[in-house]
Amino acid sequence: MLKGKHLIEPFDFSLEELEQVFDLADGIILAPENYLDVCKGKILATLFYEPSTRTRFSFEAAMQRLGGQIIGFDDPNTSSAAKGESLSDTIRTIACYADVSVLRHPREGTAKLASKYTDMPVINAGDGGHQHPTQTLTDLLTIRKYHKEIKNLTVGVCGDLKFGRTIHSLVKALSRYENIHFKMISPEELRMPKYILEDLEDGSYEITDNLETSIGDVDILYMSRVQRERFVSEDEYQRLKDFFILDKTKMELAKEDMIVMHPLPRVNEISKEIDSDKRCIYFEQARFGMFVRMALIMKLLGVAIA
Ligand code: NCD
Repeated sequence: MLKGKHLIEPFDFSLEELEQVFDLADGIILAPENYLDVCKGKILATLFYEPSTRTRFSFEAAMQRLGGQIIGFDDPNTSSAAKGESLSDTIRTIACYADVSVLRHPREGTAKLASKYTDMPVINAGDGGHQHPTQTLTDLLTIRKYHKEIKNLTVGVCGDLKFGRTIHSLVKALSRYENIHFKMISPEELRMPKYILEDLEDGSYEITDNLETSIGDVDILYMSRVQRERFVSEDEYQRLKDFFILDKTKMELAKEDMIVMHPLPRVNEISKEIDSDKRCIYFEQARFGMFVRMALIMKLLGVAIA
């Protein structure tokens, strides 16, 4: 039963609960007209203390396409945070007005903290370099669409594995599925944190800094942006930002049925020249993000079509 739950990290939902969300998302994709007013009279609050395009807009579009309404801010300076209000007071207040909330914050653990102060479902839309579970819902739904089943796959995650919260959540989530092998592709300075590796089965991953020699083996290549805002040194960012650039030459080494995913925004890590390659599905992935968030909102609110 997902009604009333918080979603702070992927393991908050069982595999069965995830399937329920994906099945509902599939239904919405097939016939969105059946869901036009299932959330009539409900309000979603978006609290964004960090920039966002896809996550915030897809949540807002999702709620509006379900007939619900939205309140919120995308600049904390326009909320009482600027007057020194604590997060716990803000969330308690928002819970007086809204039925479900979405929170993005630069500090790790913030969504978890907020969820302790309210029964209103809190959805973590990214907490610092830690987790981003609704991007993972998007990613898993996308993988289901292209590879039919989430099993027996070699998944290359490439780029900023140190600070990339979408990658942390995805790897954690995928580790629960059958026979998933990871290639962790990053410069040495941006390797996957130990706390994620420790939870993976021995032998289920390889660490490398070479995209050329890895790309031919993967069924999914998940690219990511070097997370400039998490660097202490701008020089270090400048040195590492273009470490990997996926282009036509590298795509020639990849399998015919592999897919390239990216949570977006991209900077330079995927050359625009390959956008028309049918294996590059990142904009379709962004589209699925709205449908999976529609399904998530419905499940957390406990609403269904008649
Ligand atoms: C990601 C994020 O915010 O972590 N964006 C997103 O939500 N799609 C990825 C990123 O910013 O690089």
